[in-house]
Amino acid sequence: MIYAVKSSRFAFFSWGVLAYTLAVIVWGAYVRASGSGAGCGSHWPLCNGDVIPRDPQLKTVIELTHRLTSGVALLLVITLFAWAWRAFPRHHRVRRGAALSLLFMVTEALVGAGLVLFELVADNASMARAMFMAVHLMNTFLLIGSISLTAWWGLGGGSLRLRLNDGMTLLAGVSLLAMLILAASGAVAALGDTLYPSASLAEALKQDLSPTSHLLIQLRVLHPLLAVFASFLVITTAVYACQSTQSTAVKRWSVALFVLVPVQMGVGALNVTLLAPIWLQFVHLLLADFVWIALVLMSASALSQPAKATTGERAITAPDASTLSLSRE
Ligand code: HEM
Repeated sequence: MIYAVKSSRFAFFSWGVLAYTLAVIVWGAYVRASGSGAGCGSHWPLCNGDVIPRDPQLKTVIELTHRLTSGVALLLVITLFAWAWRAFPRHHRVRRGAALSLLFMVTEALVGAGLVLFELVADNASMARAMFMAVHLMNTFLLIGSISLTAWWGLGGGSLRLRLNDGMTLLAGVSLLAMLILAASGAVAALGDTLYPSASLAEALKQDLSPTSHLLIQLRVLHPLLAVFASFLVITTAVYACQSTQSTAVKRWSVALFVLVPVQMGVGALNVTLLAPIWLQFVHLLLADFVWIALVLMSASALSQPAKATTGERAITAPDASTLSLSRE
């Protein structure tokens, strides 16, 4: 069979897994925003002690749906892993990407289970919950980053050339780290908004600045400040990448970042102004995921070298993952 066709089928499946995982993530935000995290009590993996609860409340349905849909996501990532193992040779980067995706899917499930088992749900306002939520969201980013890379490598994206004395490696590393920290601060801000909703913008700002407010409220001020800093870093990295390579893939992902980052900043500001209605929280979270994916793939495109043929794979030469060469296995 033509190798590239097999690869592109695999990549198509990987993008599908990514799209499905994004939908599960948004539903997870709905579980938090609707206060349904305790919908199954402190039971996991059972729901209120049953496999299928009888006569469930709405909160139970919302939480159970999240568990079932994330269970399907786990199965999809296991399939991705098995497929990568069968279709790509030993030490191939697609195998590594799929292994990372599976690892982060398992840790995602464990952190989610921890939230339920330690009762860090519903109206729990402890710092332990804030830390779990922050780690959960950072893990989510690592998960979708890994699936994106797996798909991109499936399309022929090259190996990453990471060197500590290289400007692009350093800039990409710092930007990715800044985005992870920004996401963690966003998770804390979202928790603060959910637990302590304000009646008006004036009241929200007063609460933000009051030293007697709950720590979760005081901490949410950090998020917009970090957003300005991280956005600056991301844009600088994209500009640097465009200047240092001719790759069309780098240019394409950079353009995505030039558009997505300012839009996301605007949506963040709207979130504050409109007191974070649930629909806008979804938009903000999805945009954060898109910014992250674009940054991961822009960095990977800039840091990659043309793929070298490995055993069982002949000449997938891809300066850009967008240009597939056809060759026979
Ligand atoms: C590139 C820029 C930004 C990124 C990547 C980002 C990312 C995030 C993330 C991941 C969350 C958590 C969402 C959730 O768990 O549901 C969040 C929440 C939040 N962000 Fe941002 N943010 C950015 C900019 C901003 C800015 C500039 C503001 C305000 C001026 C802002 C205001 C908020 C608010 C109020 C929340 C809590 C409500 C919600 O969940 O939507 N964000 N952000």
